[in-house]
Amino acid sequence: MYAALRSIGSYVPKNILTNYDLEKMVETTNEWITKRTGIKERRIASSDEVTSDLGYKASLQAIQRAGIRVDEIDMVICATLSPDYLTMPSTAAMISKKLGIKNVMAFDISAACTGFVYLISLAKAFVESGAKKNILIVGAEKISSIIDYEDRSTCILFGDGAGAAIIDSTEDKNEAILDVIASADGNYGDLLITPGCGSKNPIREDNVKDKLQYMKMAGNEVFKIAVKTLTNDVIEILQKNNISPEEIDIFIPHQANFRIIEAVRSKLNFSVEKTALTISKYGNTSSASIPMAMNDLYENKKIKYGDLMLLDAFGGGFTWGSALVRFAGKNFN
Ligand code: ACO
Repeated sequence: MYAALRSIGSYVPKNILTNYDLEKMVETTNEWITKRTGIKERRIASSDEVTSDLGYKASLQAIQRAGIRVDEIDMVICATLSPDYLTMPSTAAMISKKLGIKNVMAFDISAACTGFVYLISLAKAFVESGAKKNILIVGAEKISSIIDYEDRSTCILFGDGAGAAIIDSTEDKNEAILDVIASADGNYGDLLITPGCGSKNPIREDNVKDKLQYMKMAGNEVFKIAVKTLTNDVIEILQKNNISPEEIDIFIPHQANFRIIEAVRSKLNFSVEKTALTISKYGNTSSASIPMAMNDLYENKKIKYGDLMLLDAFGGGFTWGSALVRFAGKNFN
């Protein structure tokens, strides 16, 4: 028995924050942002929308497309770096509540932008062991809640959104999640970090005054390691599975920076047509970026049943990973 990705869904908030809007907020220009990142605009959740609202809406779509009832879901896992609450309850529990799912395991994982790849790895293990049958996985982020809109090195990069998928089982290898590799190295933790509000720097007036509740990133150092790691990941998973780059139908890298995607794509010789690119309209939505990109391709009929997708992610931790996944959902119509 194999695990299968049976459906994809996504939700993007309505409010759009353009580069021109950011020009009025920090010392930056549309030209700089476009040239250095490829981002033109990003979505920002409204003040009364929280992460679980975004995750809930993406989940509704994924559940409906999988053709199952909510009471058939036997586990809910959410990847997020911007949970509804810092410690508890989990965002997964809040999504379950909103969906009306009762009496099933629901928990969050923290793997930053690699969150969705980690989710696939977890769901695959639970399904293939026979422990669970229909798992809802959700990457959901209201990153705007942990961004300092006076810090031009981060505020131009990130956006809000969510993506969700149903993972179930199959006996057909042609619709299976073939493999996932994922890893982490905490030695790089300081390069991409939200230093405040945890046990290290608890919520206290001085810490808040020092803006420790906001994300900090040593962008240029992260950039170089990201390119190298994302490239090595792909080489490793393709070699391990004896698959050539030509056999990949769609390459879906984490959407952090157009230049990172382009460097990895060209090193690995994937064509532009085969590479997911949503960075210009959504920015970096962390754990939601891969499922949001997958959903975009799906709705544009660029992913169909049986297609071999290669997912590739890198993020804070550092964490990284890639996955070889056949799309097992119905074609979009
Ligand atoms: N507007 C104008 N100038 C800027 C801005 C801005 N928004 N931000 C920085 N600059 C300036 C810097 O101050 C610097 O000026 P200086 O040369 O006078 O010192 C200059 O532009 C170059 O800065 P760099 O940081 O070297 O710019 P770089 O080309 O590296 O681009 C960026 C920065 C976009 C952040 C890039 O490094 C990047 O994308 N990094 C990786 C992001 C990533 O992959 N993160 C991992 C996933 S995210 C997650 O897990 C949450």
